[in-house]
Parts: sequence; structure tokens; C-alpha cells
Amino acid sequence: MQSITVKAPGRINLIGEHTDYNNGFVLPAAIQKAATVTIEKRADTLVELKALDLNESISTLLEEIKPSEIHWANYIIGVIAQFQKKYNFPTGFSITLKSDIPIGAGLSSSAAIECAVAYALNELFAFGIDKMELALMAQKAEHEYAGVQCGIMDQFASLYGKKDHVVLLDCKTMEYQYFPLLLKDFTIVLFDTQIKHALASSEYNTRRLECEAGVAMIQFKFPQVNSLRDANLYMLNECVNSIAFPIVYNRCKYVIEEMERTLAATENLVANELAAFGKKMFATHKGLSTLYEVSCTELDALVDMVKNKEGVIGARMMGGGFGGCTINIVKKAELNTVIVNTIDAYKQQTGKDLVHYIVSIEDGLVVV
Ligand code: GLA
Repeated sequence: MQSITVKAPGRINLIGEHTDYNNGFVLPAAIQKAATVTIEKRADTLVELKALDLNESISTLLEEIKPSEIHWANYIIGVIAQFQKKYNFPTGFSITLKSDIPIGAGLSSSAAIECAVAYALNELFAFGIDKMELALMAQKAEHEYAGVQCGIMDQFASLYGKKDHVVLLDCKTMEYQYFPLLLKDFTIVLFDTQIKHALASSEYNTRRLECEAGVAMIQFKFPQVNSLRDANLYMLNECVNSIAFPIVYNRCKYVIEEMERTLAATENLVANELAAFGKKMFATHKGLSTLYEVSCTELDALVDMVKNKEGVIGARMMGGGFGGCTINIVKKAELNTVIVNTIDAYKQQTGKDLVHYIVSIEDGLVVV
């Protein structure tokens, strides 16, 4: 094989936010927007990277792979570096990238690139690495080359998504189960604030540390607790004083509640209780906004605007936060009205134009 082209999708997450790095549950799905990567073997040891959408390219030598000053290139170089920890590339290669996943919208545009590159390199050079390992390598690239201590959800969803299904992933055991998403008269629409908060990655890493601080406090009395997944509200109340440590307390409370909520919501989905599912999405938003504090004025405004609207059964901010999209479950018959009214209200309240995407749920990475 001399070349390969793969398409790796972005993702939505129905519920289970900021739970993955706490060993909890998430319920994502892959979507129609994707990154497409072509990799061609070369006769020399050059590594050439081209971003078609930006009309930019850089090149380096296989022997000189290191973090780049070019932001987008790091997602690719970060993955190449993971391979180089264990494997040798016999030749260099040229990578061409294009993507229609909006950047910074919380739809995992970076995970899609990482997964596409990881999968394509593995196939092209026949390293024989399994898909879960590739997801972990892509996650590592994000940790080491983008500086975000992310969980595994985004990379997992991009590789393992299944058309018209959501997937419940247990981030402690990495066991997963697909559920058909039977929305019937309803559909999913995302409202994109187009806000890319500059603090997003540093605050993300801080949240992770705050959760770890909570675990360390709980461990004094309950040494069997290795992550918030093993904890419950009783343990939290016993070990973390909410007056002395309000931030740690609130972060842990949100995560513990969100893990329970995600499992209960999945049961709602299976039982076709969409209204109950939607209520849990609103509860998640409240937790993310008031306890976990990863929302922003615009995301809160968008959720408030649709809250009591005819046909809207659930809405919340989605992904890491501080900007990006809200995810909304809306009755098809009311969809146009809801979209038009929300665009108007958002413009009035914030002076900004609101972008929306109607989601279709697709397969994870495919070779094209
Ligand atoms: C980002 C991270 C994920 C996850 C979400 C929040 O998308 O990459 O691992 O933590 O935020 O749920």
C-alpha cells in the first residue's frame, strides 16, 4: 500500500460531561462533520504536512519530529511522536488534511485529526496496533502536544461511533455498549456560540486537578477510592468540608451526580422516555454552570432561551465548555420556529450571530 485516505468524524455527547477523566460514563455519538486525511509514503525521510483549508504546509524530517510553532501541525506531529516511541517508520510520508468540523465548537475537531492520522499511519505501515490503543495514542498526543489533559471520550467516539447509535462508554473499564438513538419525532440541533474561550484548556486542566484534590481528601477515610467513580455523596460529605473547600466540594458533587445521571438517562433512552432524558440534560447544564463552572454567559443564555419553548425537551452546553455549542433535542414540527426564535433572541441579547447545525449520527472512522 502506497497511500490511504480516511475520514474521522467529530462527535456530540448526549450526557456525561467531564466524567471521562474521572473514570465515569459518557454517551457520545459520531456526527456527519469529519476530518479527511490522506497519507502517502515517500522515498525519502521527509514528513510533509498540508492543511488544505488553511492553504498552509510545513515539513520536517522523521528524525527531527518535535513540537511545532504551528498550532494545527501539533495534532499531527503529536501522533507521529507517539508511534515513534515504539515503532520505526521505514520511510517518510506526506499528509494532507481537510476538515469541515468547526474549530473550537466543542465538536472534537482536534480528536478527529489525531484519530485519522493514527489510524491511517497504522494501516499504511502495517504496525498492527488495535483500535483502542490508537484511541489512547491519539489522547496522549493531545496531552503532550496540545497541553490539554483530556479524557478518552472524543478519540473513542471518533473511532467507535456507529450510525444512528449512541455509545455508552465506561471510562474505568473501557467497556462499551451501543444503543439505537430512536428520536422519532425529535431531532438534535446544536447552537454554536462561536466563542472560543482563551482559558478553556488551562481551566480544563484545573478542573481535573480539583477533582484529584477531592479524591485525595476522600482517600483519607476511604482508601479504596481511586477516582470519583468510586466515590458517592456520602463519602464526599464525610471528607470534604463544603465551607472550607467549596470549590473542590462543588466540582466533586457535580461529577458524582453526573455519573449517576448518565446511567439513569441511558435507561430513559432505552425505555423511550425522551422527556425524562431531556430533563436530565437541563440538570446537567445547571451542574456544569453552577457547580463545575465551565459554562459562560452565552451558553447559559442559549439554554435559558429554549428552556420553556414548545417542542424543546432538553438542552445543555456540550463538551469542555467556556464556549462552543449547546446540544438541544427538539420536536421536528417545531424545529424551524425554535431555530428562528433562538437566532433572533441571541442576536438581541448578545449582539452576535448564532450558527446552528442539525446533527445526523454517522459511523466512526472509515477508510475512503
Ligand atoms: C473535552 C475533552 C473530553 C471530555 C469533555 C468534557 O471534549 O476532550 O475528554 O472531558 O471535554 O466532557
